[in-house]
Amino acid sequence: MSPLLITNIKQLINVRKENHLVKGKELSVLPSIEDAWLIIEDGIIAEYGKMEQLSTVNRQLSTIDASGQFILPAWCDSHTHLVFAASREEEFVDKIKGLSYAEIAAKGGGILNSARKLNETCEDELFNLAWKRLEEAAKLGTGAIEIKSGYGLTVEGELKMLRVIKRLKEKSNLTIKATFLGAHSYPIEYKENHRGYIDLIKNKMLPVIAAEKLADYIDVFCETGFFSPEETEEICKAGMRYGLKPKIHANQLNLSGGVEVGVKLNAVSVDHLETMDESTIKTLATSNTIGTLLPTAAFFLRMPFQPARQLIDAGCGIALATDFNPGSSPSYNVNLVVAMSCIQMKMLPEEAINAATINGAYAMEMEKELGSISVGKKANLIFTKPIPSLAYLPYSFGTNLIDKVMINGEFI
Ligand code: NIG
Ligand code: FE
Repeated sequence: MSPLLITNIKQLINVRKENHLVKGKELSVLPSIEDAWLIIEDGIIAEYGKMEQLSTVNRQLSTIDASGQFILPAWCDSHTHLVFAASREEEFVDKIKGLSYAEIAAKGGGILNSARKLNETCEDELFNLAWKRLEEAAKLGTGAIEIKSGYGLTVEGELKMLRVIKRLKEKSNLTIKATFLGAHSYPIEYKENHRGYIDLIKNKMLPVIAAEKLADYIDVFCETGFFSPEETEEICKAGMRYGLKPKIHANQLNLSGGVEVGVKLNAVSVDHLETMDESTIKTLATSNTIGTLLPTAAFFLRMPFQPARQLIDAGCGIALATDFNPGSSPSYNVNLVVAMSCIQMKMLPEEAINAATINGAYAMEMEKELGSISVGKKANLIFTKPIPSLAYLPYSFGTNLIDKVMINGEFI
């Protein structure tokens, strides 16, 4: 394919020559070039610079004019549950009417509701449903996505979900990472037999997952009433023996001990973090583990938002993700996550964009290929509509300001 030149870019956002996880104060620095050009070759970012320095040779290339538009790296959504059988809006309405989580669970709701439906749904149908969601997410600027299992909770169900994710990886132009979340909840038949379910994960699920290369990461829902820190550690270590690094659901509803286990095991990320105290913040800040914040889950469950300011001020490396799932965050819109983190968590627009691009790439270990405008990285790009400033993106929340999305150098 012949090289493509994009000219008159109002601002080229998150331009980086060198790669590192962006932590603490540095999150507010978003390197950008005003009045820029960019060349894409074979799906890769080849060159960029300021318009006044565009050579006469390069001016001959086939060109797209981006006057008034901002170009950003596509979103890296590092935490989703995109594969599921059915939506759960009936629970949403029950909650509005005042039913408690326990009452909803008693009516067969929650994760176990999704698990029952998933086990009744065939692999092809799950694939088709997930494929449509993936396409819609890409239109909203997502270029890379992590997808978890965890609605199977049986050997067949978990493997079916992971095989769906593998097919998505093979067919999609998006970069996809798969996470095994067999430890999302205890299935009813193992409610009083935790040992039995943990052994099922270790002896029946993990060996097949490893043999078929179905997962990149291992996740556990470390939470009161779900998996204890000790159980979390045991399951993560079992996954680690097969080369799966941990990415853990931690501290969503309680000080669950999940952050401490994650840091101890050198997890790639600990995710959620609605419930943090000074000591857990310090533990995370002095580690290499990324704190992935999921504000739309807090919003949807009417919970306090993640303490982003304290985390950033303490020096943590923060990523933002959607947690897209039918129970606690039925949205795959990263633009909304970015806006909500600014509006409700007082993140600066620069901090939010770093967290949803370069740090999201780190949270999927894709930082060498994604997450910034850097020579040699994939041309996964968001072209905004003409906007007055970068802050206008989160400011005008709920408005679709995306003009075009490019994945691997091609417009979708
Ligand atoms: O990340 N926290 C645990 N799991 C999911 C949602 C579970 C569900 O209700 O389906 C989450 O929020
Ligand atoms: Fe989640």
